[in-house]
Amino acid sequence: MKLPNTYYNYISYLGSIIALIAWITLIFFVVQIYFFGVNNVYFDLFTFVVTPGFLVLGHLLIPIGMYRTRRKLKRGIEVSGDKILMLNLRDSKTRNAILIFSVVSIFFIISTVIGSFKAFQYTESVEFCGKLCHKVMNPEYVAYQNSPHAKVKCAECHVGEGADFYVKSKMSGLRQVFKYSLNSYVRPIVTPIENLRPARETCEKCHWPQKFYTNALRHEKYFLSDSANTHWDIILNMKIGANHQSLGLTEGIHWHINKDFQIEYKSNAKRDSIFWVKVIDKKSGKETVFTDAGQGVKPEKLNEAEMRTMDCMDCHNRPSHEFHSPSRYVNDVLASPNKYAAIPWIKSAAMEALKEPFATTESAMSGIKNKIIKFYKDQYPNLYKIYSANITNAITAITDAFSMNAFPEMKVTYSVYPRHIGHLESEGCFRCHNDRFKSPSGKVISKDCNLCHTIVAQGKVDSMNYVGVNGTLNFKHPIDIRDAWKVSNCSECHSDLYK
Ligand code: HEC
Ligand code: HEC
Ligand code: HEC
Ligand code: HEC
Ligand code: HEC
Ligand code: HEC
Repeated sequence: MKLPNTYYNYISYLGSIIALIAWITLIFFVVQIYFFGVNNVYFDLFTFVVTPGFLVLGHLLIPIGMYRTRRKLKRGIEVSGDKILMLNLRDSKTRNAILIFSVVSIFFIISTVIGSFKAFQYTESVEFCGKLCHKVMNPEYVAYQNSPHAKVKCAECHVGEGADFYVKSKMSGLRQVFKYSLNSYVRPIVTPIENLRPARETCEKCHWPQKFYTNALRHEKYFLSDSANTHWDIILNMKIGANHQSLGLTEGIHWHINKDFQIEYKSNAKRDSIFWVKVIDKKSGKETVFTDAGQGVKPEKLNEAEMRTMDCMDCHNRPSHEFHSPSRYVNDVLASPNKYAAIPWIKSAAMEALKEPFATTESAMSGIKNKIIKFYKDQYPNLYKIYSANITNAITAITDAFSMNAFPEMKVTYSVYPRHIGHLESEGCFRCHNDRFKSPSGKVISKDCNLCHTIVAQGKVDSMNYVGVNGTLNFKHPIDIRDAWKVSNCSECHSDLYK
């Protein structure tokens, strides 16, 4: 087989060898994927990214070598290509050269493949996401370790399967590393994350959307900021689904993910304020549009707003890194078996201390401690004498809780990343369920307190009111605020209750 004279040069040989090995590897991977059904992001990566890279390199080297030889031939530097090809295998020098060349090339290619495999595997690990980029991702990393998804890798939600998203995420990762090294990233990281992989491709890999969840009891424990830290409990029966699985997703909270319906909405960029809602009944094709007369959004703004189809993330937007408010985590500390709630005024003292923003975690730790001690020394010196040991322990528990939920360096707190489930501290469900959204036929998206849950028990723990499982109590606000809780959204007070 004869090839053009110009082909016979070392660069083109090298190109041919690389290309040949790449072809063989590629065929091997493709057979694995398509005939043996191997389904693995790394396999995809090598098949569709790394190997083709070598293939392209090899195929580029061939013409480059040929071009160079052609120029040399023209200038008369080289005489004839045939001479270059003269490989005398009887000559031990030539044999050695070939041997060394082959071994080195093969070693080079194998180690590149293994090296990049390991490198990519590492960039997918929780340690890489959470620790390497320590300062930036620390809030999410810490909160994640306390979440129901603590065993789900960051990449399983943020990247998912397939080579395309893999490459996309690594590209945007490179940009982030760049910003990180220049220290020019925004704090806090802006949400909602644009181009976050849709829930259909991440959450639904593990959570089957048609899966029926029955109603579930939710027991909430609160402590008021009075001298006794009055312990007030509420038990809610959450209507996640209907009351029996035979009814499927026809009613209840997960009705929104019933495949027969599609809900679309328009909102501001942060998605914490919704302007317009449409429900499409996919079976009948009927569309119902709800508009919010009360909010009076201008038509231009409405036209500009991006339309989004509702999915899991519109409610479960903090599935894995949720930041609690001071009120919530202090309630949790007080509800713990350590009986810190026996210290008079402790809730009030804690809320007072946690009110102010801190610049660093370190200054927060000492700041919170000093403020709580000062609160007692100034206002209740007698109590401080009696409870000082217990107060010291309570302070440790409170600062620990703080460090898991607030991250001054990244400006992360619960209010920066509101959670869309519920309605106490952010509008959440009340973004739509506020009795203001009306369809042309007069249907409203309801705020009825029994639509999403019933209250089966509430009150001070030693004198609670109960009803049977099918009944419900009328909500009683823990302190008397008259009808304010009916008239305004809870978050209007609760988003910054202690400020
Ligand atoms: C169960 C799925 C899931 C897991 C696991 C997960 N995340 Fe997220 N993450 C999300 C979702 C959903 C958002 C989008 C929130 C939004 O857009 O409002 C998000 C947002 C973020 C953000 C943007 C800031 C913020 O707090 O919203 C960062 C940073 C982040 N995740 C880092 C991580 C890191 C680091 C890990 C692993 C230690 C991780 N995530 C694990 C689902 C997940
Ligand atoms: C890799 C698998 C996996 C992925 C992907 C995943 N989850 Fe989960 N999720 C789990 C497992 C496992 C549990 C159960 C944890 C337990 O019971 O302790 C769970 C629990 C939950 C719960 C119940 C939480 C609770 O308090 O008990 C919710 C809600 C949830 N996931 C939502 C989501 C959402 C939303 C997404 C997408 C952003 C998602 N999950 C992605 C595996 C996954
Ligand atoms: C984007 C707007 C939107 C958001 C956000 C929203 N919903 Fe809805 N929801 C609707 C619409 C629209 C309906 C149907 C109203 C109708 O047709 O009467 C509905 C109906 C419901 C129903 C009644 C389903 C049935 O027919 O039995 C429940 C329960 C419900 N939502 C719970 C919630 C909860 C809980 C949240 C917050 C975690 C929430 N919704 C957030 C738009 C929304
Ligand atoms: C309309 C808002 C909404 C949407 C959309 C939604 N959920 Fe939920 N989901 C809820 C609420 C509210 C609960 C009850 C949580 C609670 O008790 O605080 C819940 C509970 C759950 C639970 C826990 C069930 C249990 O018994 O503990 C899982 C798992 C879950 N959702 C997964 C999903 C997945 C996956 C999707 C998307 C396919 C999804 N949800 C879509 C609002 C929603
Ligand atoms: C659209 C659905 C929906 C409606 C309407 C609704 N709630 Fe809720 N509510 C929820 C969900 C979901 C949660 C659970 C929040 C969570 O998972 O933390 C909740 C939680 C609560 C809690 C516990 C608060 C907390 O977060 O600790 C109280 C109390 C409550 N609701 C009272 C009411 C009252 C009173 C009304 C009527 C004015 C009402 N709800 C209307 C969905 C709803
Ligand atoms: C007018 C303002 C206002 C509105 C509106 C309001 N609350 Fe409150 N809420 C308060 C105040 C003030 C307290 C007492 C806080 C304390 O003593 O520490 C409180 C306490 C609570 C507590 C105990 C919380 C804790 O952590 O100690 C719950 C639960 C609660 N409210 C639920 C609701 C719900 C649910 C709604 C909406 C249906 C609502 N509130 C609307 C002002 C309001």
